[in-house]
Amino acid sequence: MTDNFTWNRKDFLSIEDLSKDELETIFAYADQFKQTLDRTQKKLPTLRGKTILNLFMEPSTRTKVAFEIAAKRLSADVITITGDASSLSKGESLRDTAKNIAALNADVIITRNSHAGSAYYLSKIVDIPVINAGDGAHEHPTQALLDCFTLRDHFGDLKGLNVTILGDILFSRVARSNIWALQKLGASVTLAGPATLVPKKFEEFGVKVHHDVETALKNSDAVMLLRIQHERQSSIHFPSLGEYTKMFGLNKKRAALLKPEAIILHPGPVNRGVEIDSQLADSEKSVILKQATHGIVCRMAVLFLCATAAANNLMNKISANE
Ligand code: CP
Repeated sequence: MTDNFTWNRKDFLSIEDLSKDELETIFAYADQFKQTLDRTQKKLPTLRGKTILNLFMEPSTRTKVAFEIAAKRLSADVITITGDASSLSKGESLRDTAKNIAALNADVIITRNSHAGSAYYLSKIVDIPVINAGDGAHEHPTQALLDCFTLRDHFGDLKGLNVTILGDILFSRVARSNIWALQKLGASVTLAGPATLVPKKFEEFGVKVHHDVETALKNSDAVMLLRIQHERQSSIHFPSLGEYTKMFGLNKKRAALLKPEAIILHPGPVNRGVEIDSQLADSEKSVILKQATHGIVCRMAVLFLCATAAANNLMNKISANE
């Protein structure tokens, strides 16, 4: 394993908090774990005896499954609780749920919740590590990890890359985490989409904002597409989905404006024919399925670092009391 172990955090809550060195540490471990993907025997004994609790209060395919696979590949036991299947649906508070999960001897809690700040809240309630798998429109930090890991895998380095994030930025936790991650790693970020979903105020984060999609795509090394997040919108932000596709959807003509070697990313789920032309989603330029695979190794790295730091802190506490 890598020697530059510089992880001192209990939790993994946001990209905004992290330094470039911490991002590089995660990638160094993810690089190591990536080598196991093609092996016949994919399991490592690293987290044997640990129990990982996946608490998913919002729908998920990629994140939930990738965390489960990541935990299993590290030989941890993993339990997933989703939506109505938990006693939250019977009126139990999130606080009591978390306290009971910790009392049931879980070693790590992974949480997805529609409320921004919920992962931070849980991290203050329990002594075990809390990993944010998406909190409302705030952050989706492991998504940004796998997105940047995919760009790094393709280009070698993110320094100097022009990355355009196109779509519903306002309601997107993926966009927020990527704005931090991409800039920390040296990329320039452009946000594009309708003015109602891409407010100029985002320029405060050091990014460019364009409402003209063609201008935004020109000279981009990569475009990250986002779907319209209807589940977080309480009002209408554009005339119709058809109108949105016509004005902002990525089609062949618009993709031709990207740099010749440019790649297309999408966190999923993809709404084919809305934010992206279906053929483009399956084209050579698309790295959408690679992103899903990289989600396993980035989450293995985060689980490993958080669980190991927790074990080291416990050992230090025990030694101090002896
Ligand atoms: N990208 C992402 O978070 O996908 P899921 O909602 O399927 O986990």
